[in-house]
Amino acid sequence: MPLVPMRQILDEAAKGGYGVGAFNINNMEQIQAIMMAAQETKSPVIMQVSRGALKYSNDLYLRRLVDAAVELNPDNPIALHLDHGNSFDTCKRAIDLGFTSVMMDGSLDEDGKTPNTYEKNVDVTRRVVDLAHPLGVTVEGELGCLGGIEDGHGAGIAVDDTEHLTDPAEAEDFVAKTGVDALAVAIGTSHGAYKSLRKDPKTGEMLPPALAMDRIHEIHKRMPNCHLVMHGSSSVPKELVDLINQYGGNMPDTYGIPVDQIQDGIKHGVRKVNVDTDMRLAMTAAIRKVFTEQPEKFDPRDYLTHARAEAAKMYKERMLAFGQAGHAADFKPMTLEEMIKVYESGEKIQA
Ligand code: G3H
Ligand code: 13P
Ligand code: ZN
Repeated sequence: MPLVPMRQILDEAAKGGYGVGAFNINNMEQIQAIMMAAQETKSPVIMQVSRGALKYSNDLYLRRLVDAAVELNPDNPIALHLDHGNSFDTCKRAIDLGFTSVMMDGSLDEDGKTPNTYEKNVDVTRRVVDLAHPLGVTVEGELGCLGGIEDGHGAGIAVDDTEHLTDPAEAEDFVAKTGVDALAVAIGTSHGAYKSLRKDPKTGEMLPPALAMDRIHEIHKRMPNCHLVMHGSSSVPKELVDLINQYGGNMPDTYGIPVDQIQDGIKHGVRKVNVDTDMRLAMTAAIRKVFTEQPEKFDPRDYLTHARAEAAKMYKERMLAFGQAGHAADFKPMTLEEMIKVYESGEKIQA
C-alpha cells in the first residue's frame, strides 16, 4: 500500500478514541524500530521528519528508507509527516518529496525562533493548506509557542511561561480561518529532555511540568472534531536517564510528561502525540551500555542492534499506552487521490 494521508489516520483515531504516536526519524535503525513495534502491536504509524533530519539525510536517503518500510510492512498504514516546517517553501519541498502530511509551524517566524504575529501565522498556514489539500496532503498548524529550544528551533521560552499558551477562542478562529486538519497546542510542554523547573520543596526532587490540561479540555469542547496534537510529549523515563549516567553519561535530574497526562489529553481530542527525546534516550543508553560492558566491540552493527531493540521496546510501550495498538487493520487505507475528493466535498474539521 502507498503512504497514507495522515488525516485518515487521525480521523480513524478520533472514531476509535485513541491517540497515535508521531515518532521522529533520522536513520534506518529508528525506522526499523518503529516498524518492529508497529508489527508487534498491529499499529497504524506516523513517522515524522524535522528540517534537521532532512538536512542530515540529504532528503533522499530518509525518503527512500521510508519507501522500504512501506514495502516491507504492507499491513501497517504509514503516514509520512514534516515536523515543524518553518515556511511555505519548506512545506512545498516536503510535498514534492512525497510526504503525505506537513506541519506549517507558523507560531514562530521563519527563523524558527521569534514568536510570530497571529495574522502572519494565519496567512502562511492558510497558504500551505491551499497548496496541500488539492494534492490530498494533510496540514497541521500550531498556535501558541512551546517552551525550550531544540536544534536551533524554538523561541527559548521558559518552561514555566504561561503567556504563550494557546488561547481556546483564538484556536477556534484559527482553525476556521486556515482549514487545518490538525492543531498543535501549547499547554506547557517543551521539546527535549528538560521540561520542568518544578521541585518538591520538601525533598528537592524534580516534579513533572505543570500542564494546562484545562486548555485542551476547553479547546476540545469548542471544537470536538478538531484533531489536537501534543508536542514535547516524551516521558523522559528515569530508568533511561539513570542507565545513561550509570554508563558514563552526565545528565542532570529531569522529568518528562507522565503518560497518564497524555492519556487525559487523548480523552479530550488529542490524536497525535509527538515523541522524539525518549527514542534518543533509549538508543543512547543502549549504546553506552555496549561501549562500557564490551569495550572490545567496534562493529557499529553490534551496538546499533541493541539501540534499535531498546528503541522498539519504548515505541511498543507508547503504542500500547496511546491506544493505537490493534488498530492497523481497522480501515482501508486511502490514497491521496481519494483524499482530494474528501477535500473537494468541502468537509471541514471544525464542528
Ligand atoms: O522538534 C523537535 C524534534 O524533536 C526534532 O528535533 O530538530 O533536533 O531533529 P530536531
Ligand atoms: P520530545 O522532545 O518531548 O520528544 O518532543 C518531540 C516533538 O514534539 C517533535 O515535534
Ligand atoms: Zn514539536
